[in-house]
Amino acid sequence: MKRVISVALLSATIGLSAQNSNADIAKEGVKYIKMLGGTLKAEVKKRMKDDPTGLQAAYLCSKSAQSITKDVNAKFPKGVRVYRTALKYRNEKNKPDATDIEVIKKLDAQIKMKDFKKKPIVVNLDDTYRVYLPLITQKLCLKCHGNPEKMDSKVKETISKNYPNDKATGFKEGSLRGVIVAEIKKDKK
Ligand code: HEC
Repeated sequence: MKRVISVALLSATIGLSAQNSNADIAKEGVKYIKMLGGTLKAEVKKRMKDDPTGLQAAYLCSKSAQSITKDVNAKFPKGVRVYRTALKYRNEKNKPDATDIEVIKKLDAQIKMKDFKKKPIVVNLDDTYRVYLPLITQKLCLKCHGNPEKMDSKVKETISKNYPNDKATGFKEGSLRGVIVAEIKKDKK
């Protein structure tokens, strides 16, 4: 029963902040998100170009995604952090919390109903704001997140060795892969 109430409250908060979306917070969040998203994407693209099987990139991702995330986060002002998460995640460290799950489900429903505008969702929590942007599965992502039967066997092997509990395969082009989130502490303001 408690769970039902908190979900209802959260939905109300999300609905509300989507209406009077704090444009300044959204803008600030997107700026930080782009710093992490851009760095990760550039690294993956560079390695895919050198080795189109994706093995180099898969290797990079498993060894460096967490450290790249940490390095980029170190450049942000105090009280700011950016992370990636998903319902079906590969790394346990990227596991979503209750707020993440609510937002991802909402986005997923919107995308499925084709009622979707790529704009940030701002969630107003007690002492932080969170700014969410969806990560849509592109063709490039399928090398490592697509149908396992169609994945390069070496890539598959590298992934299953590094992530024995991987949940992040079976995605289709155009579907929601996950989200990238900027969390901004309020008392930093
Ligand atoms: C070369 C392989 C590879 C490609 C291509 C790739 N990923 Fe990943 N992805 C990974 C690995 C490995 C992880 C786990 C990283 C970690 O340890 O944090 C991951 C993690 C993620 C996560 C964090 C949540 C989780 O599952 O742990 C998201 C979100 C994500 N990928 C989205 C994408 C999107 C969107 C694309 C295409 C634009 C993409 N990935 C392309 C290998 C890949």
